[in-house]
Amino acid sequence: MEVVITTSKADAGALAADAIEALVRAKPEAVLGTATGSSPLPIYAELVRRHQAGTGPSYAGVRTFNLDEYVGLPAGHEQTYRATIQRELTDALGLPDGHVHGPDPAEDGLPTAGARYESLIVESGGVDLQVLGIGADGHLAFNEPGSSLASRTRIKTLTAQTRSDNARFFGSVDEVPIHVLTQGLATILDARHLVLIATGAGKADAVAAAVEGPVSASCPASVLQLHPHATVLLDGDAAGSL
Ligand code: GLP
Repeated sequence: MEVVITTSKADAGALAADAIEALVRAKPEAVLGTATGSSPLPIYAELVRRHQAGTGPSYAGVRTFNLDEYVGLPAGHEQTYRATIQRELTDALGLPDGHVHGPDPAEDGLPTAGARYESLIVESGGVDLQVLGIGADGHLAFNEPGSSLASRTRIKTLTAQTRSDNARFFGSVDEVPIHVLTQGLATILDARHLVLIATGAGKADAVAAAVEGPVSASCPASVLQLHPHATVLLDGDAAGSL
């Protein structure tokens, strides 16, 4: 695992943007694994800035696969992770709508949604670079502590803590869905390169547990230690407990 301590959130974002641009230049039909939450926003802002300045590569052939999705929000709701990634990244980069993928929580297909999503990822050739954030409790995507290291895409129930953390995006905590579809930890490990970004002191203990602690379901992000090509980008505050 490569751990890079940068001087700011923007610098961490720029390093990840460099890696994504290099991938897309080398492989115009690259498959990018996308994460939501506030941590990856500096990456997306930098990619969009460079694209709009005309210095970035073309993303017309790129496909994206989101890590997770809420169950129970109406299609097109602004807080679905699909709408979020389109707003923050893929629309501005000019990806066709059909190239933007996420777990599909349509209710009639819910029992098989995980398997269908896994097949779609495999058919696309697999994820080349997966962007990741980390929860304050060490969760990865919506794999809360206790998730199996061998888990695949499936339905999960959010903890009260994560619902309360995410209430800031909704009118109140009661509006935050209880269930989600999320890639599993083994699904995430299938990506060829993992790039985790964490900034701020609130992530310091989770980062230390993920990077220096035992590999354990108690800290889902510790699975990065099992991956042959994992990069962890931190600012000084998030590196504070290392
Ligand atoms: C949510 C997402 C995760 C994300 C986490 C941390 O739970 N499902 O993918 O890593 O929030 O969010 P933030 O980056 O806003 O701290």
